[in-house]
Amino acid sequence: MTTSSLAIDTAEVRRRFSSLSRGFHFFDSPGGSQAPDSVAEAIARTVRDASANLGAPYETSRRVGAILEQAEQSAARFLGCSPGEITFGLNMTTLNFALSRTAGRHWQSGDELIVTALDHDANVAPWLALAADKDLTVHTVRCNDDTTLDLDDLRSKLSSRTRVLAFTWASNAVGTITQAREICALAHEAGALAWIDAVHYAAHEPIDVVEAGADVLLCSPYKFCGPHLGIAFASERVARDWDAYKTRPTPELPTGRRLATGTFPFESLAGLIACFEHLQEVGGMAAICDYERTLGEQLLAGLPDSATLYGLPGLDGRVPTLLLNLDRMPAREVSRALAERGFGVWSGDTWYSLGLYERLGYEGEALRIGIAHYNDASEVDALLEALASLA
Ligand SMILES: Cc1ncc(COP(=O)(O)O)c(C=O)c1O
Repeated sequence: MTTSSLAIDTAEVRRRFSSLSRGFHFFDSPGGSQAPDSVAEAIARTVRDASANLGAPYETSRRVGAILEQAEQSAARFLGCSPGEITFGLNMTTLNFALSRTAGRHWQSGDELIVTALDHDANVAPWLALAADKDLTVHTVRCNDDTTLDLDDLRSKLSSRTRVLAFTWASNAVGTITQAREICALAHEAGALAWIDAVHYAAHEPIDVVEAGADVLLCSPYKFCGPHLGIAFASERVARDWDAYKTRPTPELPTGRRLATGTFPFESLAGLIACFEHLQEVGGMAAICDYERTLGEQLLAGLPDSATLYGLPGLDGRVPTLLLNLDRMPAREVSRALAERGFGVWSGDTWYSLGLYERLGYEGEALRIGIAHYNDASEVDALLEALASLA
C-alpha cells in the first residue's frame, strides 16, 4: 500500500524485493533483513564481470579496484566519515574481535575496560577475552528497570585507567536507544576510546560518527538490506597509531585498508554499493526512520491487552523493535503459529544480550517484532489481527 502522507512509497519499495512478493510478511529484520533484487543483481554481475584481485593492469582487476573505492566512499557517506576510515570484514563480530585486539595490543595489566548490560555479546565477549589475555579489569554498566543505561553507574566506573568504553547505540532485543553523544563525551573526558556497536541502530536511524563523537563504530549491512558483511569506522585520529595485525606487504595507508585482512569480498562490496543506492532511492535514512516510527506506533497501539511489552513503554527512546510475551501462550508457540499464517517473527531467549536477559527476567523466550521500511500498514494490521486471535 502507498502511504501518501509519508515520504516512503511502500508499494514501489516492495516491488524492489522478490522475496516480499510471495505473501510473506517479514517482521524479523533485526535478525537479518530482506535484500532488494538490485543487491542480488550487483553481486551476480560482479562474479560474472569482475572476478580478479586488486592491482593488476587488466580490465577485471581495475573493476574490482573501482568497486572497493566506491564501496568505501558510499560507506563513508552513510556514516559521515572519510573513505580511508572504513574497514570491511566478514561481519561485525569478526571485525570487533580483530579491532579490539589491535586497539588493545599495548594495553597494560591493570588497565580498565567498560562494557554495558544492554549490549549484544559481540560487543562484550571480545573485551572479556582481551581482558582475560592481558589481565585487564572489566566493568559492566548496569541497566535501569526501563532498559535505559544507568549513566550515574557509568560515570562511577570511569577512571584514568579506562581505555575503552564499549556500548551499543540501540538494543537488538528491546530497541532501547542510548545517549551516544553524551556517552562518547564521558569516555573522552576520562581519556578512553568511545566504541559503538551500531548494528541495530544503523538499520533505523541516520548516523554521523563525527557528531556522535565515536572513535570506532561497527555495523552490519545485512541488517539494512545489504549483503552479509561487517563495516567498521575507525577514526584516523586514533587508528593511525595502531599497530595492526597485518601482512608485511600490506601498505600502511589508507588506515581502513591496513586494518582489514586479506582479499576483499568484491562481489559483496558491489552488493553493498547497491544497498546504499537503494536506501537513498527510497528516501534516505531520515525518511525511513520517520516512516518506520509511524508503523511502530501503529503496532504498539494495537497490541492485545494480554501482551507484556519489555523495555520502554512507548517508541520514545527506542527504534521500532518490540519484545513481548502474550499471556498463557509461550513465545515459541506464538512464533510457530504466526509462521503458519505467513508471518516471519522470531522467538528467542537472550538475543545474545546476556546482561539484559538477566535484567528482564522473563522465563524462557519472548517474541521480537521488528519493523523495516519495506513493511506496510496493512501488514501491521494483519499481524495485529493474528496476534489478537492467538491472544
Ligand atoms: C546489536 C548487534 N550487535 C552485534 C551483532 C553481531 O553482528 P554480526 O552478525 O554482523 O556479527 C548483532 C547481530 O544480530 C546485533 O544485533
